[in-house]
Amino acid sequence: FSFSSQENERDPPGPKPLPLLGNLLQLDLKRPYNTLLKFSKKYGSVFTVYLGPQKVVVLAGYKTVKEALVNNAEEFGERDPMQIMKDFNPGLGVLWSNGDSWKEMRRFALTNLRDFGMGKKACEDKIIEESHYLIDVFKKFKGEALDTTHPVNYAVSNIICSMVYGSRFEYDDPEFTSLVDRTNRNIQLVASPSIQVYNQFPWIGKWFGVRNEILKLTEANKKQNLRLFSRLKETLNPDMCRGFVDAFLVRKQQLEESGNTKSHFHDANLLMTVLNLFAAGTDTTATTLRWALLLMVKYPKIQEQVREELNRVIGSRQVQVEDRKNLPFTDAVIHETQRLANIVPMALPHKTSQDITFQGYFIKKGTTVYPLLTSVLYDEKEWERPHTFYPAHFLDKDGKFVKRDAFMPFSAGRRICLGESLARMELFIFFTTLLQHFRFTPPPGVSEDELDLTPRVGFTLSPSPHKLCAVLRI
Ligand code: HEM
Repeated sequence: FSFSSQENERDPPGPKPLPLLGNLLQLDLKRPYNTLLKFSKKYGSVFTVYLGPQKVVVLAGYKTVKEALVNNAEEFGERDPMQIMKDFNPGLGVLWSNGDSWKEMRRFALTNLRDFGMGKKACEDKIIEESHYLIDVFKKFKGEALDTTHPVNYAVSNIICSMVYGSRFEYDDPEFTSLVDRTNRNIQLVASPSIQVYNQFPWIGKWFGVRNEILKLTEANKKQNLRLFSRLKETLNPDMCRGFVDAFLVRKQQLEESGNTKSHFHDANLLMTVLNLFAAGTDTTATTLRWALLLMVKYPKIQEQVREELNRVIGSRQVQVEDRKNLPFTDAVIHETQRLANIVPMALPHKTSQDITFQGYFIKKGTTVYPLLTSVLYDEKEWERPHTFYPAHFLDKDGKFVKRDAFMPFSAGRRICLGESLARMELFIFFTTLLQHFRFTPPPGVSEDELDLTPRVGFTLSPSPHKLCAVLRI
Protein backbone atom coordinates (compact mmCIF):
# COMPACT_ATOMS: atom_id res chain seq x y z
CA PHE A 1 0.00 0.00 0.00
CA SER A 2 1.17 3.50 -0.65
CA PHE A 3 -0.64 6.00 1.46
CA SER A 4 1.63 9.02 1.17
CA SER A 5 -0.61 11.96 1.98
CA GLN A 6 0.19 13.82 -1.22
CA GLU A 7 -0.65 10.86 -3.43
CA ASN A 8 -3.65 9.99 -1.37
CA GLU A 9 -5.20 13.39 -1.96
CA ARG A 10 -5.32 12.86 -5.68
CA ASP A 11 -5.99 9.14 -5.65
CA PRO A 12 -9.32 8.14 -7.15
CA PRO A 13 -11.72 7.60 -4.20
CA GLY A 14 -12.96 4.18 -3.20
CA PRO A 15 -14.09 1.94 -0.35
CA LYS A 16 -11.70 1.75 2.58
CA PRO A 17 -9.38 -1.24 2.22
CA LEU A 18 -8.37 -3.64 4.99
CA PRO A 19 -4.67 -4.41 5.34
CA LEU A 20 -3.64 -7.24 3.01
CA LEU A 21 -7.21 -8.23 2.09
CA GLY A 22 -8.01 -4.81 0.65
CA ASN A 23 -11.67 -4.82 -0.43
CA LEU A 24 -11.83 -8.54 -1.22
CA LEU A 25 -14.40 -9.19 1.51
CA GLN A 26 -16.73 -6.59 0.03
CA LEU A 27 -16.59 -8.11 -3.45
CA ASP A 28 -18.92 -10.77 -4.77
CA LEU A 29 -16.11 -12.94 -6.15
CA LYS A 30 -18.51 -14.84 -8.38
CA ARG A 31 -19.78 -11.65 -9.97
CA PRO A 32 -17.23 -8.95 -9.11
CA TYR A 33 -18.50 -6.72 -11.94
CA ASN A 34 -21.82 -6.32 -10.08
CA THR A 35 -20.10 -5.07 -6.95
CA LEU A 36 -17.94 -2.73 -9.03
CA LEU A 37 -21.06 -1.36 -10.71
CA LYS A 38 -22.52 -0.62 -7.27
CA PHE A 39 -19.28 1.03 -6.15
CA SER A 40 -19.39 3.27 -9.24
CA LYS A 41 -22.76 4.63 -8.09
CA LYS A 42 -21.19 5.62 -4.78
CA TYR A 43 -17.65 6.65 -5.72
CA GLY A 44 -18.08 7.94 -9.27
CA SER A 45 -16.73 7.02 -12.68
CA VAL A 46 -13.05 6.69 -11.66
CA PHE A 47 -12.48 4.86 -8.41
CA THR A 48 -9.98 2.64 -6.61
CA VAL A 49 -10.48 -0.85 -5.21
CA TYR A 50 -7.90 -3.12 -3.65
CA LEU A 51 -8.14 -6.73 -4.76
CA GLY A 52 -6.07 -8.01 -1.89
CA PRO A 53 -2.83 -6.03 -1.99
CA GLN A 54 -3.33 -5.09 -5.65
CA LYS A 55 -4.57 -1.61 -6.39
CA VAL A 56 -7.02 -1.41 -9.28
CA VAL A 57 -8.47 1.72 -10.82
CA VAL A 58 -11.92 1.08 -12.25
CA LEU A 59 -13.34 3.14 -15.12
CA ALA A 60 -17.13 3.30 -15.29
CA GLY A 61 -19.67 4.69 -17.72
CA TYR A 62 -19.45 5.31 -21.46
CA LYS A 63 -17.94 8.79 -21.29
CA THR A 64 -15.13 7.84 -18.93
CA VAL A 65 -14.26 4.52 -20.61
CA LYS A 66 -14.14 6.24 -23.98
CA GLU A 67 -12.10 9.16 -22.68
CA ALA A 68 -9.55 6.73 -21.26
CA LEU A 69 -9.33 4.01 -23.92
CA VAL A 70 -9.84 6.18 -27.01
CA ASN A 71 -8.68 9.71 -26.13
CA ASN A 72 -5.78 8.48 -23.97
CA ALA A 73 -5.20 5.27 -25.88
CA GLU A 74 -1.44 5.10 -25.29
CA GLU A 75 -1.59 5.73 -21.56
CA PHE A 76 -4.35 3.17 -20.95
CA GLY A 77 -3.37 0.70 -23.68
CA GLU A 78 -1.13 -1.81 -21.91
CA ARG A 79 -2.21 -5.24 -20.78
CA ASP A 80 -1.88 -6.37 -17.19
CA PRO A 81 -1.68 -10.16 -17.22
CA MET A 82 -3.10 -11.90 -14.17
CA GLN A 83 -0.79 -14.15 -12.16
CA ILE A 84 -2.38 -17.32 -13.56
CA MET A 85 -1.57 -16.10 -17.08
CA LYS A 86 2.00 -15.26 -16.16
CA ASP A 87 2.40 -18.84 -14.92
CA PHE A 88 2.24 -20.31 -18.39
CA ASN A 89 2.77 -17.34 -20.68
CA PRO A 90 5.99 -15.36 -20.47
CA GLY A 91 4.64 -12.34 -22.34
CA LEU A 92 4.06 -13.98 -25.72
CA GLY A 93 1.08 -14.07 -28.10
CA VAL A 94 -1.45 -11.22 -28.40
CA LEU A 95 -3.81 -11.41 -25.44
CA TRP A 96 -1.47 -11.03 -22.47
CA SER A 97 1.63 -9.46 -23.99
CA ASN A 98 2.96 -5.92 -24.34
CA GLY A 99 5.69 -4.03 -26.15
CA ASP A 100 7.23 -4.87 -29.52
CA SER A 101 6.31 -8.55 -29.40
CA TRP A 102 2.62 -7.72 -28.86
CA LYS A 103 2.73 -5.09 -31.60
CA GLU A 104 4.22 -7.47 -34.16
CA MET A 105 1.97 -10.40 -33.26
CA ARG A 106 -1.15 -8.25 -33.28
CA ARG A 107 -0.29 -6.66 -36.62
CA PHE A 108 0.61 -10.00 -38.18
CA ALA A 109 -2.52 -11.70 -36.84
CA LEU A 110 -4.77 -8.90 -38.10
CA THR A 111 -3.22 -8.77 -41.56
CA ASN A 112 -3.27 -12.51 -41.97
CA LEU A 113 -6.72 -13.11 -40.65
CA ARG A 114 -7.77 -10.48 -43.19
CA ASP A 115 -5.81 -12.22 -45.91
CA PHE A 116 -7.48 -15.48 -44.99
CA GLY A 117 -10.82 -13.85 -45.30
CA MET A 118 -11.70 -12.05 -42.06
CA GLY A 119 -14.48 -9.70 -43.11
CA LYS A 120 -14.40 -10.96 -46.70
CA LYS A 121 -16.25 -13.26 -49.07
CA ALA A 122 -13.99 -16.31 -48.58
CA CYS A 123 -14.69 -16.22 -44.90
CA GLU A 124 -18.38 -15.62 -45.43
CA ASP A 125 -18.53 -18.79 -47.53
CA LYS A 126 -16.85 -20.78 -44.77
CA ILE A 127 -19.31 -19.51 -42.19
CA ILE A 128 -22.25 -20.32 -44.47
CA GLU A 129 -20.91 -23.84 -45.02
CA GLU A 130 -20.39 -24.32 -41.30
CA SER A 131 -23.85 -23.04 -40.44
CA HIS A 132 -25.27 -25.89 -42.51
CA TYR A 133 -23.25 -28.47 -40.59
CA LEU A 134 -24.69 -26.93 -37.45
CA ILE A 135 -28.21 -27.12 -38.87
CA ASP A 136 -27.68 -30.83 -39.58
CA VAL A 137 -26.79 -31.41 -35.92
CA PHE A 138 -29.89 -29.54 -34.72
CA LYS A 139 -32.06 -31.48 -37.19
CA LYS A 140 -30.97 -34.78 -35.68
CA PHE A 141 -32.81 -33.87 -32.46
CA LYS A 142 -36.11 -33.76 -34.42
CA GLY A 143 -37.47 -30.92 -32.30
CA GLU A 144 -36.59 -32.52 -28.98
CA ALA A 145 -34.87 -30.49 -26.27
CA LEU A 146 -31.14 -30.03 -26.83
CA ASP A 147 -28.21 -28.39 -25.12
CA THR A 148 -26.69 -26.00 -27.65
CA THR A 149 -23.28 -25.73 -25.95
CA HIS A 150 -21.25 -28.32 -27.82
CA PRO A 151 -22.68 -27.97 -31.32
CA VAL A 152 -22.43 -24.17 -31.29
CA ASN A 153 -18.92 -24.23 -29.84
CA TYR A 154 -17.72 -26.69 -32.45
CA ALA A 155 -19.26 -24.76 -35.32
CA VAL A 156 -17.77 -21.45 -34.19
CA SER A 157 -14.41 -23.00 -33.40
CA ASN A 158 -14.20 -24.47 -36.88
CA ILE A 159 -14.13 -20.96 -38.34
CA ILE A 160 -10.98 -20.20 -36.35
CA CYS A 161 -9.58 -23.60 -37.37
CA SER A 162 -10.14 -22.82 -41.04
CA MET A 163 -8.31 -19.54 -40.70
CA VAL A 164 -5.52 -20.78 -38.47
CA TYR A 165 -4.80 -24.29 -39.78
CA GLY A 166 -6.49 -23.98 -43.15
CA SER A 167 -9.14 -26.66 -42.59
CA ARG A 168 -12.19 -27.48 -40.53
CA PHE A 169 -12.72 -30.62 -38.46
CA GLU A 170 -15.58 -33.08 -38.16
CA TYR A 171 -17.64 -32.60 -34.99
CA ASP A 172 -16.88 -36.15 -33.86
CA ASP A 173 -13.11 -35.88 -34.34
CA PRO A 174 -11.70 -36.35 -30.82
CA GLU A 175 -8.57 -34.37 -31.68
CA PHE A 176 -10.79 -31.37 -32.38
CA THR A 177 -13.44 -31.77 -29.69
CA SER A 178 -10.87 -32.22 -26.95
CA LEU A 179 -9.12 -29.03 -28.05
CA VAL A 180 -12.34 -27.04 -27.96
CA ASP A 181 -13.64 -28.59 -24.73
CA ARG A 182 -10.36 -27.98 -22.92
CA THR A 183 -10.21 -24.36 -24.06
CA ASN A 184 -13.72 -23.71 -22.81
CA ARG A 185 -13.18 -25.45 -19.51
CA ASN A 186 -10.07 -23.32 -19.00
CA ILE A 187 -11.94 -20.09 -19.61
CA GLN A 188 -14.43 -21.06 -16.93
CA LEU A 189 -11.77 -22.07 -14.45
CA VAL A 190 -9.73 -18.91 -14.91
CA ALA A 191 -12.59 -16.83 -13.49
CA SER A 192 -13.33 -19.11 -10.55
CA PRO A 193 -13.17 -17.45 -7.11
CA SER A 194 -10.23 -19.61 -6.06
CA ILE A 195 -8.17 -18.43 -9.05
CA GLN A 196 -9.03 -14.84 -8.28
CA VAL A 197 -7.68 -15.39 -4.79
CA TYR A 198 -4.65 -17.16 -6.24
CA ASN A 199 -3.95 -14.18 -8.53
CA GLN A 200 -3.66 -11.96 -5.45
CA PHE A 201 -1.87 -14.36 -3.13
CA PRO A 202 0.16 -16.70 -5.35
CA TRP A 203 2.34 -17.84 -2.48
CA ILE A 204 -0.56 -19.44 -0.61
CA GLY A 205 -2.44 -20.56 -3.65
CA LYS A 206 0.23 -22.52 -5.51
CA TRP A 207 -1.30 -25.81 -4.50
CA PHE A 208 -4.88 -24.98 -5.43
CA GLY A 209 -6.28 -27.89 -7.42
CA VAL A 210 -7.94 -25.57 -9.91
CA ARG A 211 -4.62 -24.00 -10.83
CA ASN A 212 -3.13 -27.40 -11.54
CA GLU A 213 -6.10 -28.33 -13.67
CA ILE A 214 -5.63 -25.15 -15.73
CA LEU A 215 -1.95 -25.90 -16.22
CA LYS A 216 -2.69 -29.48 -17.28
CA LEU A 217 -5.36 -28.42 -19.77
CA THR A 218 -3.03 -25.81 -21.22
CA GLU A 219 -0.17 -28.29 -21.54
CA ALA A 220 -2.43 -30.74 -23.36
CA ASN A 221 -3.57 -28.04 -25.77
CA LYS A 222 0.02 -26.98 -26.41
CA LYS A 223 1.03 -30.56 -27.22
CA GLN A 224 -1.87 -31.02 -29.56
CA ASN A 225 -1.10 -27.81 -31.38
CA LEU A 226 2.53 -28.81 -31.77
CA ARG A 227 1.34 -32.04 -33.43
CA LEU A 228 -0.87 -30.06 -35.78
CA PHE A 229 1.97 -27.65 -36.57
CA SER A 230 4.39 -30.44 -37.39
CA ARG A 231 1.90 -31.91 -39.86
CA LEU A 232 1.55 -28.50 -41.49
CA LYS A 233 5.33 -28.08 -41.58
CA GLU A 234 5.72 -31.35 -43.49
CA THR A 235 3.49 -30.12 -46.27
CA LEU A 236 4.35 -26.42 -46.18
CA ASN A 237 4.31 -24.68 -49.55
CA PRO A 238 5.47 -21.04 -49.31
CA ASP A 239 3.54 -20.16 -52.47
CA MET A 240 0.26 -21.42 -51.12
CA CYS A 241 -0.36 -20.63 -47.48
CA ARG A 242 -3.37 -22.49 -46.14
CA GLY A 243 -3.79 -20.40 -43.02
CA PHE A 244 -2.20 -18.34 -40.28
CA VAL A 245 0.22 -21.09 -39.18
CA ASP A 246 1.63 -21.49 -42.70
CA ALA A 247 2.02 -17.73 -43.10
CA PHE A 248 3.81 -17.50 -39.77
CA LEU A 249 6.19 -20.36 -40.64
CA VAL A 250 7.01 -18.80 -43.99
CA ARG A 251 7.73 -15.42 -42.40
CA LYS A 252 9.90 -17.08 -39.77
CA GLN A 253 11.86 -18.93 -42.46
CA GLN A 254 12.38 -15.73 -44.45
CA LEU A 255 13.67 -13.89 -41.39
CA GLU A 256 16.02 -16.75 -40.53
CA GLU A 257 17.37 -16.85 -44.07
CA SER A 258 18.04 -13.12 -43.96
CA GLY A 259 20.08 -13.65 -40.79
CA ASN A 260 17.64 -11.98 -38.40
CA THR A 261 18.11 -13.78 -35.11
CA LYS A 262 16.27 -11.37 -32.82
CA SER A 263 12.88 -11.58 -34.46
CA HIS A 264 9.65 -12.19 -32.54
CA PHE A 265 8.64 -14.77 -35.12
CA HIS A 266 9.66 -17.89 -33.23
CA ASP A 267 7.88 -21.15 -32.35
CA ALA A 268 6.88 -20.10 -28.85
CA ASN A 269 5.17 -16.96 -30.15
CA LEU A 270 3.38 -18.95 -32.85
CA LEU A 271 2.06 -21.40 -30.28
CA MET A 272 0.88 -18.73 -27.87
CA THR A 273 -0.74 -16.63 -30.60
CA VAL A 274 -2.67 -19.64 -31.90
CA LEU A 275 -3.80 -20.59 -28.38
CA ASN A 276 -4.91 -16.97 -27.88
CA LEU A 277 -6.92 -16.86 -31.09
CA PHE A 278 -8.66 -20.06 -30.03
CA ALA A 279 -9.36 -18.91 -26.51
CA ALA A 280 -10.51 -15.44 -27.52
CA GLY A 281 -12.37 -16.45 -30.65
CA THR A 282 -14.42 -19.49 -29.74
CA ASP A 283 -16.12 -19.10 -26.41
CA THR A 284 -16.98 -15.42 -26.89
CA THR A 285 -18.75 -15.84 -30.20
CA ALA A 286 -20.38 -19.16 -29.32
CA THR A 287 -21.66 -17.77 -26.03
CA THR A 288 -23.16 -14.73 -27.74
CA LEU A 289 -24.90 -16.93 -30.28
CA ARG A 290 -26.31 -19.11 -27.52
CA TRP A 291 -27.59 -15.99 -25.74
CA ALA A 292 -29.26 -14.91 -28.97
CA LEU A 293 -31.10 -18.24 -29.29
CA LEU A 294 -32.10 -18.23 -25.63
CA LEU A 295 -33.41 -14.66 -25.89
CA MET A 296 -35.44 -15.68 -28.93
CA VAL A 297 -37.03 -18.47 -26.88
CA LYS A 298 -37.68 -16.10 -24.00
CA TYR A 299 -39.22 -13.44 -26.27
CA PRO A 300 -41.18 -15.34 -28.95
CA LYS A 301 -42.79 -12.18 -30.32
CA ILE A 302 -39.38 -10.74 -31.14
CA GLN A 303 -38.41 -14.07 -32.68
CA GLU A 304 -41.49 -13.84 -34.89
CA GLN A 305 -40.58 -10.30 -35.94
CA VAL A 306 -37.11 -11.46 -36.97
CA ARG A 307 -38.60 -14.33 -38.92
CA GLU A 308 -41.14 -12.07 -40.60
CA GLU A 309 -38.33 -9.77 -41.72
CA LEU A 310 -36.22 -12.68 -42.96
CA ASN A 311 -39.19 -14.10 -44.87
CA ARG A 312 -40.06 -10.81 -46.42
CA VAL A 313 -36.56 -9.69 -47.40
CA ILE A 314 -34.75 -12.97 -48.07
CA GLY A 315 -37.30 -15.74 -48.48
CA SER A 316 -35.72 -19.16 -48.55
CA ARG A 317 -32.42 -18.32 -50.22
CA GLN A 318 -29.18 -18.22 -48.23
CA VAL A 319 -28.62 -15.00 -46.26
CA GLN A 320 -25.41 -13.13 -47.07
CA VAL A 321 -23.51 -10.42 -45.26
CA GLU A 322 -24.66 -7.95 -47.90
CA ASP A 323 -28.24 -8.46 -46.77
CA ARG A 324 -27.54 -7.01 -43.35
CA LYS A 325 -28.38 -3.46 -44.45
CA ASN A 326 -31.81 -4.63 -45.55
CA LEU A 327 -32.49 -6.43 -42.28
CA PRO A 328 -32.55 -3.60 -39.72
CA PHE A 329 -34.70 -5.38 -37.16
CA THR A 330 -32.58 -8.54 -37.23
CA ASP A 331 -29.43 -6.44 -36.99
CA ALA A 332 -30.89 -4.58 -34.00
CA VAL A 333 -31.72 -7.88 -32.30
CA ILE A 334 -28.12 -9.09 -32.69
CA HIS A 335 -26.73 -5.82 -31.34
CA GLU A 336 -29.17 -5.82 -28.44
CA THR A 337 -28.18 -9.41 -27.65
CA GLN A 338 -24.54 -8.38 -27.44
CA ARG A 339 -25.41 -5.38 -25.28
CA LEU A 340 -27.56 -7.23 -22.79
CA ALA A 341 -25.44 -10.39 -22.71
CA ASN A 342 -22.43 -8.27 -21.74
CA ILE A 343 -20.23 -11.31 -22.06
CA VAL A 344 -16.88 -9.71 -21.14
CA PRO A 345 -18.09 -7.52 -18.27
CA MET A 346 -14.73 -6.09 -17.20
CA ALA A 347 -12.93 -6.35 -20.56
CA LEU A 348 -9.44 -7.74 -19.83
CA PRO A 349 -7.22 -6.01 -17.30
CA HIS A 350 -5.30 -3.03 -18.68
CA LYS A 351 -2.49 -1.10 -17.05
CA THR A 352 -1.16 2.42 -17.44
CA SER A 353 1.98 2.78 -19.54
CA GLN A 354 2.97 6.03 -17.81
CA ASP A 355 1.89 8.35 -15.00
CA ILE A 356 -1.29 10.17 -15.94
CA THR A 357 -3.66 12.69 -14.43
CA PHE A 358 -7.11 11.65 -15.51
CA GLN A 359 -10.30 13.51 -14.64
CA GLY A 360 -8.32 15.26 -11.90
CA TYR A 361 -6.96 12.06 -10.36
CA PHE A 362 -3.38 10.88 -10.38
CA ILE A 363 -2.82 7.33 -11.67
CA LYS A 364 0.70 5.98 -11.46
CA LYS A 365 2.48 4.15 -14.29
CA GLY A 366 1.85 0.40 -14.05
CA THR A 367 -1.49 0.69 -12.21
CA THR A 368 -4.02 -2.01 -13.09
CA VAL A 369 -7.08 -0.56 -14.80
CA TYR A 370 -10.43 -2.28 -15.35
CA PRO A 371 -12.59 -0.76 -18.09
CA LEU A 372 -15.96 -1.82 -16.68
CA LEU A 373 -17.77 -2.64 -19.93
CA THR A 374 -20.93 -3.57 -17.98
CA SER A 375 -21.20 0.05 -16.91
CA VAL A 376 -21.01 1.15 -20.55
CA LEU A 377 -23.46 -1.41 -21.93
CA TYR A 378 -25.91 -0.71 -19.07
CA ASP A 379 -25.15 3.03 -18.74
CA GLU A 380 -28.36 4.70 -17.62
CA LYS A 381 -27.33 7.94 -19.32
CA GLU A 382 -26.97 6.18 -22.68
CA TRP A 383 -29.72 3.56 -22.87
CA GLU A 384 -33.46 4.08 -22.54
CA ARG A 385 -34.01 0.68 -20.93
CA PRO A 386 -30.58 -0.51 -19.80
CA HIS A 387 -31.71 -3.73 -18.12
CA THR A 388 -34.33 -4.85 -20.62
CA PHE A 389 -34.01 -6.74 -23.92
CA TYR A 390 -35.13 -3.88 -26.12
CA PRO A 391 -34.02 -4.07 -29.80
CA ALA A 392 -35.50 -0.60 -30.35
CA HIS A 393 -32.32 0.74 -28.76
CA PHE A 394 -30.87 0.29 -32.24
CA LEU A 395 -33.82 1.48 -34.34
CA ASP A 396 -35.07 4.93 -35.23
CA LYS A 397 -38.74 5.85 -35.43
CA ASP A 398 -38.91 4.60 -39.03
CA GLY A 399 -37.47 1.22 -38.13
CA LYS A 400 -34.04 2.00 -39.64
CA PHE A 401 -30.95 0.66 -37.91
CA VAL A 402 -29.04 3.21 -35.82
CA LYS A 403 -25.53 2.83 -34.44
CA ARG A 404 -25.07 3.66 -30.79
CA ASP A 405 -21.82 5.04 -29.42
CA ALA A 406 -22.14 3.19 -26.13
CA PHE A 407 -22.31 -0.17 -27.93
CA MET A 408 -18.88 -1.33 -26.79
CA PRO A 409 -18.90 -5.11 -26.28
CA PHE A 410 -15.56 -5.38 -28.08
CA SER A 411 -14.02 -2.66 -25.89
CA ALA A 412 -12.19 0.23 -27.59
CA GLY A 413 -8.81 1.79 -28.28
CA ARG A 414 -5.46 0.12 -28.66
CA ARG A 415 -6.50 -3.24 -27.24
CA ILE A 416 -9.90 -3.41 -28.93
CA CYS A 417 -10.92 -6.95 -29.84
CA LEU A 418 -8.83 -8.19 -32.72
CA GLY A 419 -11.59 -10.44 -34.01
CA GLU A 420 -14.45 -7.93 -34.05
CA SER A 421 -15.23 -8.08 -37.76
CA LEU A 422 -14.97 -11.88 -37.81
CA ALA A 423 -17.22 -12.18 -34.78
CA ARG A 424 -19.82 -9.84 -36.26
CA MET A 425 -19.90 -11.78 -39.50
CA GLU A 426 -20.25 -15.08 -37.67
CA LEU A 427 -23.05 -13.83 -35.44
CA PHE A 428 -24.99 -12.48 -38.39
CA ILE A 429 -24.69 -15.53 -40.66
CA PHE A 430 -25.15 -18.20 -37.98
CA PHE A 431 -28.09 -16.41 -36.35
CA THR A 432 -30.02 -15.63 -39.51
CA THR A 433 -29.42 -19.02 -41.11
CA LEU A 434 -30.57 -20.83 -37.97
CA LEU A 435 -33.69 -18.68 -37.71
CA GLN A 436 -34.57 -19.33 -41.32
CA HIS A 437 -34.56 -23.06 -40.63
CA PHE A 438 -35.90 -23.41 -37.09
CA ARG A 439 -38.39 -22.02 -34.65
CA PHE A 440 -36.78 -22.08 -31.21
CA THR A 441 -39.04 -22.94 -28.28
CA PRO A 442 -38.72 -23.84 -24.59
CA PRO A 443 -38.48 -27.53 -23.68
CA PRO A 444 -41.88 -29.20 -23.15
CA GLY A 445 -43.44 -28.24 -19.84
CA VAL A 446 -41.34 -25.08 -19.42
CA SER A 447 -42.88 -21.67 -19.99
CA GLU A 448 -40.97 -18.68 -21.36
CA ASP A 449 -41.29 -16.95 -17.98
CA GLU A 450 -39.45 -19.77 -16.28
CA LEU A 451 -36.37 -19.40 -18.49
CA ASP A 452 -33.53 -18.10 -16.38
CA LEU A 453 -31.36 -15.32 -17.80
CA THR A 454 -28.90 -15.24 -14.90
CA PRO A 455 -25.44 -15.74 -16.37
CA ARG A 456 -23.16 -18.48 -15.23
CA VAL A 457 -19.89 -17.67 -13.47
CA GLY A 458 -16.95 -17.56 -15.85
CA PHE A 459 -14.48 -15.28 -17.54
CA THR A 460 -17.12 -14.73 -20.15
CA LEU A 461 -20.74 -14.63 -19.08
CA SER A 462 -22.54 -17.53 -20.68
CA PRO A 463 -26.17 -18.53 -20.17
CA SER A 464 -26.85 -20.89 -17.26
CA PRO A 465 -27.16 -24.53 -18.39
CA HIS A 466 -30.39 -24.92 -20.32
CA LYS A 467 -32.04 -26.80 -23.13
CA LEU A 468 -34.21 -25.56 -25.96
CA CYS A 469 -36.05 -27.10 -28.90
CA ALA A 470 -35.15 -26.39 -32.52
CA VAL A 471 -38.34 -27.10 -34.47
CA LEU A 472 -37.91 -27.35 -38.25
CA ARG A 473 -39.96 -24.75 -40.06
CA ILE A 474 -40.48 -26.64 -43.25
C1 HEM B 1 -9.80 -8.93 -26.97
C2 HEM B 1 -14.65 -9.15 -26.93
C3 HEM B 1 -14.55 -12.40 -30.56
C4 HEM B 1 -9.71 -12.18 -30.59
C5 HEM B 1 -11.12 -8.75 -26.65
C6 HEM B 1 -11.58 -7.88 -25.58
C7 HEM B 1 -12.94 -7.94 -25.58
C8 HEM B 1 -13.34 -8.83 -26.64
C9 HEM B 1 -13.88 -7.18 -24.64
C10 HEM B 1 -10.69 -7.10 -24.59
C11 HEM B 1 -10.37 -5.74 -25.08
C12 HEM B 1 -9.63 -4.94 -24.05
O1 HEM B 1 -8.71 -5.44 -23.42
O2 HEM B 1 -9.96 -3.76 -23.86
C13 HEM B 1 -15.03 -10.07 -27.89
C14 HEM B 1 -16.40 -10.44 -28.16
C15 HEM B 1 -16.37 -11.37 -29.17
C16 HEM B 1 -14.99 -11.57 -29.54
C17 HEM B 1 -17.62 -9.88 -27.42
C18 HEM B 1 -17.51 -12.10 -29.86
C19 HEM B 1 -18.76 -11.79 -29.82
C20 HEM B 1 -13.25 -12.58 -30.92
C21 HEM B 1 -12.78 -13.41 -32.02
C22 HEM B 1 -11.42 -13.37 -32.01
C23 HEM B 1 -11.02 -12.50 -30.93
C24 HEM B 1 -13.68 -14.17 -32.98
C25 HEM B 1 -10.44 -14.09 -32.92
C26 HEM B 1 -10.15 -13.87 -34.09
C27 HEM B 1 -9.33 -11.30 -29.62
C28 HEM B 1 -7.94 -11.02 -29.27
C29 HEM B 1 -7.96 -10.07 -28.23
C30 HEM B 1 -9.38 -9.81 -27.95
C31 HEM B 1 -6.71 -11.65 -29.90
C32 HEM B 1 -6.77 -9.42 -27.53
C33 HEM B 1 -6.40 -8.12 -28.20
C34 HEM B 1 -5.20 -7.43 -27.58
O3 HEM B 1 -4.95 -7.59 -26.39
O4 HEM B 1 -4.49 -6.72 -28.32
N1 HEM B 1 -12.22 -9.30 -27.29
N2 HEM B 1 -14.21 -10.77 -28.73
N3 HEM B 1 -12.15 -12.04 -30.29
N4 HEM B 1 -10.16 -10.55 -28.81
FE1 HEM B 1 -12.18 -10.58 -28.85
